[in-house]
Amino acid sequence: MKMSEDLEVGFGRQITREFGSAMLYRQLAIELELRDLPGMASWMRAHATEELGHADRLIAHLVARGNHPLIGDITVPSIKADNVTELFEIALEAEQEISEAIRELYRLAEEQGDIDSRPTIDWFISEQIEEEDTVGEIVGRLRMVEEDGSGLLRIDAELASSGA
Ligand code: FEO
Repeated sequence: MKMSEDLEVGFGRQITREFGSAMLYRQLAIELELRDLPGMASWMRAHATEELGHADRLIAHLVARGNHPLIGDITVPSIKADNVTELFEIALEAEQEISEAIRELYRLAEEQGDIDSRPTIDWFISEQIEEEDTVGEIVGRLRMVEEDGSGLLRIDAELASSGA
């Protein structure tokens, strides 16, 4: 069954956020390449691809419901970071914002009594718990090594082989 116009707009906003998130991860990858940390950069690029997958999942849901997904304006925030830890903290903060946006989408769907969108939104709620945990763990490890070169190179090597 087709979802309401209001909910369609809410989903559209989330689609745009996921594309924005992909672009943010690509920019973070660039920042890491410039710091000679190719493993971390490759992790960021892999994560950007995951974000595109999130947008596609939302688009597929709307199309299946006979709604019209619309991609809005995408802005990539300028990145100000003095060190590698801060780059990953930017990613963590962005994930926390996405989680809140998903909760808003959940509330909107509940208000509308839109039962059909529940499985899709539930998937995103679980995914966000996992994403915050993954990025939070990397931030924790980076804080532990405190920008020490050998520590950074070890994490760089680990992330090179872990994917997103
Ligand atoms: Fe699609 Fe990392 O949130």
